[in-house]
Amino acid sequence: MGSLLPLSLFFWLVAACLGGGSARGRRAERVQGPRGSPPTPSGTSAPFWVRLSPEFAAVPPGGSVWLNCSSNCPLPEEPRLRTRLRLGQKRTGPGWVSYQLLDVRAWSSDVRCFVTCAGETREATSRITAYKRPRSVILDPPVLEDGKYTLRCHVTHVFPVGFLVVTLRRGGRVIHSESLERYTGLDLANVTLTYLWHAGPRDHWQPVTCHARFNLDGLIVRSSSAPVTLALLVRSPESKVLASTSIAALVGILLAVGAAYLYKRRTTTQTQS
Ligand SMILES: *[C@@H]1O[C@H](CO)[C@@H](O)[C@H](O)[C@H]1NC(C)=O
Ligand SMILES: *[C@@H]1O[C@H](CO)[C@@H](O)[C@H](O)[C@H]1NC(C)=O
Repeated sequence: MGSLLPLSLFFWLVAACLGGGSARGRRAERVQGPRGSPPTPSGTSAPFWVRLSPEFAAVPPGGSVWLNCSSNCPLPEEPRLRTRLRLGQKRTGPGWVSYQLLDVRAWSSDVRCFVTCAGETREATSRITAYKRPRSVILDPPVLEDGKYTLRCHVTHVFPVGFLVVTLRRGGRVIHSESLERYTGLDLANVTLTYLWHAGPRDHWQPVTCHARFNLDGLIVRSSSAPVTLALLVRSPESKVLASTSIAALVGILLAVGAAYLYKRRTTTQTQS
């Protein structure tokens, strides 16, 4: 008896640690808004639930996704799907209907499914996120001029730009961070961040990196450039005049967002079923 208590305590602790693990933390945080109706008893009829799965889906912009609306209603009416997305194919089975949603371009879309069972209507919601991880994050070799480094970082083929944060770091230290929330375009884009950095003597010969990060409603996506060492590269005299005029007009930061080409990839569109 005396030895059983610590043992059960040990198991309890293990169970608590496993159950409260943080591996699912980020995903779990997302699951707040959309969810199916809970199976609650309603008057005389049997508990009735509606589910739309997956609750969260991430697709590349222009891609497609299948959502499955199911319920435990023995004789459901035809479910109704409410969405701004374009509907594609549909598959039906006992108690479920699976819908294909095409050409997802909005960074976030809510889809709702309504099922009516014996006069009672319940609904479930899914959220679809469209994003494209940068194809590349490239930091140009820094150029030193008048004691300042020009740091230029290119983030290519990225979406949605408005949720991107580009950060320049020297080692663990943040040199500069820029949130691009004012860009609301609905296409893939190339982003160039230019920053004039007044480096201290201890910064020379240190590796500098550029980081692109999304926070899409809790879904975190990160990409980084290869490190570039701060060498004492000085501009040639001809390019100097032009460079300093353009820099003077920029107040330190230049941000260029290239309009992306029309993103037609019907053929490569993902159609998981
Ligand atoms: C849809 O969900 C139901 C119930 O969970 C399942 O039985 C069915 O196989 C699913 N259909 C598809 C196409 O995934
Ligand atoms: C974006 O960058 C890529 C790679 O550098 C290039 O091929 C493409 O043409 C650029 N697109 C735009 C719209 O600037």
